[in-house]
Amino acid sequence: MDRIRIVGGRTLEGRIPISGAKNAALPLMIASLLTSETLTLENMPNLADVSMLLRILGHHGVDYSVDGRRPGEMPHASRTIHLSARAIVDTMAPYELVSKMRASFWVVAPLLARMGEAKVSLPGGCAIGTRPVDLLIMVLERLGASVEIEAGYVHARAQKGLRGAEIRFPKVTVGGTHTALMAASLAHGHTRIENAACEPEIVDLADCLNKMGAKIKGAGQTAIEIEGVGSLSGARHAVLPDRIEAGTYAMAVAMTGGDVLLEGASPALLQSALDAIEQAGAGVSVTNEGIRVRRNGAGLSPVDVTTAPFPGFPTDLQAQFMALMTVAKGCSRITETIFENRFMHVQELARFGAKIRLEGDIAFVEGVESLQGAPVMATDLRASVSLVIAALAAEGETVVNRVYHLDRGFEHLEEKLSRCGALVERLSNPG
Ligand code: EPZ
Repeated sequence: MDRIRIVGGRTLEGRIPISGAKNAALPLMIASLLTSETLTLENMPNLADVSMLLRILGHHGVDYSVDGRRPGEMPHASRTIHLSARAIVDTMAPYELVSKMRASFWVVAPLLARMGEAKVSLPGGCAIGTRPVDLLIMVLERLGASVEIEAGYVHARAQKGLRGAEIRFPKVTVGGTHTALMAASLAHGHTRIENAACEPEIVDLADCLNKMGAKIKGAGQTAIEIEGVGSLSGARHAVLPDRIEAGTYAMAVAMTGGDVLLEGASPALLQSALDAIEQAGAGVSVTNEGIRVRRNGAGLSPVDVTTAPFPGFPTDLQAQFMALMTVAKGCSRITETIFENRFMHVQELARFGAKIRLEGDIAFVEGVESLQGAPVMATDLRASVSLVIAALAAEGETVVNRVYHLDRGFEHLEEKLSRCGALVERLSNPG
């Protein structure tokens, strides 16, 4: 398994191109199951999760092709992927595939809406909590499907098609809202979603579905109205920039010091995180090329944050912000309200000499003078990258093990950081 070796203590200077968002790309790819025509997705990140989902969609009958990079293009240039689900060959998503990637459970909605039946393995728990799918099942039932849980599988049937309905989420769920958008687009009649997730990735999916002929109004607000249509067509859509990748590099610069332009990053997508970074003492400015982040060696101030659904502080940046706070001058308080067990990075950050005390869903971080490099390992994607950020600022050498977590969600991480002056290299371990 690959590892990443980082020698810390260098400031970051230069430009980092921000890739297309993983968490928008995945539901957009799944939306290709809704139509027999070709869905073309531009600005697709080259990530392990995207490759895995291509394999999973292939199992259902999706043909795909990936435009090659043209000569002279930068290695990180984004890709275009064409997906055609002319015929769905299998409405069953087996455990072996769904257990590899949680988001692949979302195929249940388009398969059911288009084919009248879907049988999808329950995704099970994961490193950041139990992550149930009860609200996704509630959506399918509200839209008229009969759903049975049999031997670890969700078996949903709606032989006469789905019917529009009122769906009120008792808590905000991104996956639940994606499910409702996809299923209701092909349901008979009108659907109203209340307490919908407002994340930019929801808006991106709704925009793409509308290009495919869906009638969705209000995405990005808590109430969404959908008028079902008989069929959807192909479309061409560019994936929005990755706000979590942008926020991660912004925090890296705030931690190491330096001056970096995050090319193509959109400030409207991560205002709460940028506010926290500024309060911590980094300079953030918006240019017409992206977001510029600077810090000139002055100390960092402690800042309290609480994760919340968009536009609140994203849970997917909580670990990275905690890494930043480990060297602030004073105590900060980080509260996680979205997932019950998303503090797996705490014990690994402690290996660098960080002082963090956990009390339920709150982490109390007492800033230290400096961190020291160490061998570390993480159990999920965002936790892993928080260790990379800590390593960039730590004294000496760090080896981050289990790099496959990073490859799931960060495109060309070592290359993007080393172009800005970081000492980062991948150590490939055969076998
Ligand atoms: C999406 O997960 C993202 N994944 C997550 O990113 C992100 O952390 C999360 O939204 C919150 O922003 C993708 O987009 C692929 P939820 P999702 O449904 O949709 C509970 C990353 O690192 N819940 O909004 O699975 C759930 O347990 C990943 O890129 C239920 O109780 O998250 C959680 O506490 C990690 N029942 C809360 O809702 C349900 O049926 C929010 O989860 C569904 C969810």
